[in-house]
Amino acid sequence: MAGELSPIDKAKFVAAKRAVDFVEDGMRVGLGTGSTAAWMVRCLGELVRNDGLKIKGIPTSTRTAELARDCGITVISLDEAKWLDLTIDGADEFDQDLNLIKGGGGALLQEKIVATASDQMIVIADVGKEVETLGAFPLPLEVIPFGWQTSQALIEEMLISMDVLGRNTTLRMNGPAPFVTDEGNYILDLHLNRIGNARQLSMVLNQIPGVVENGLFIDICDKVVVGFGDGRVEVRDINDGSIEEDRLDFLEDDNLFRDLGD
Ligand code: A5P
Repeated sequence: MAGELSPIDKAKFVAAKRAVDFVEDGMRVGLGTGSTAAWMVRCLGELVRNDGLKIKGIPTSTRTAELARDCGITVISLDEAKWLDLTIDGADEFDQDLNLIKGGGGALLQEKIVATASDQMIVIADVGKEVETLGAFPLPLEVIPFGWQTSQALIEEMLISMDVLGRNTTLRMNGPAPFVTDEGNYILDLHLNRIGNARQLSMVLNQIPGVVENGLFIDICDKVVVGFGDGRVEVRDINDGSIEEDRLDFLEDDNLFRDLGD
């Protein structure tokens, strides 16, 4: 039941619920990964099952693919879709230019490919994800396992000349073993505290051998739907500068809460 959700989960839910208003019949929709994106997939599933919404979903991880199928959404691959109308995904941080840090869930590679192949990317986030400057959240970096420690050393050396406050890097673990992405790669988390020039850092990181992709999403996001714990939502559009405010009600008998609590 909605009443049992924490304020952060309510904020994530209302952001997700408002964002699916932008999905139209016939769209190919990129489905993000993470707890906020999971709410969005559930909301979309409800529209598919109850309102006959016809869409094709392109998931950004194996776990999102599984959830989407469970929710009754038709899932196709990016190669089948080729180009998408819209991607809706969460974020770990967003700034006022709607540049993002993503990859807290380890799915940044597919997320970036899918979002970049979309006419529009909408980010859904609770208000706690908004920052003045990116970097408090450790920046995820996907690296291939071969020689990852050499890649890590090269990254740390490169960071010396970058406008960042911290330079520590850690291998993401899953218990005693390294965390492994859907593509069989590792994740290094870069503890930078503050990123002075995200665009430059993103470009330089991707030139280091062994780095597959970084979690900075620069000029990719078009809109952010910001959720608040009291049901308020704001839709901010970077292209026209508009900000729309709204408020959503929680329905106590909402199937989303009864069947699919997370
Ligand atoms: C997944 O790899 C991430 O990019 C997520 O989108 C991001 O970590 C946000 O996750 P939550 O919605 O769970 O906070």
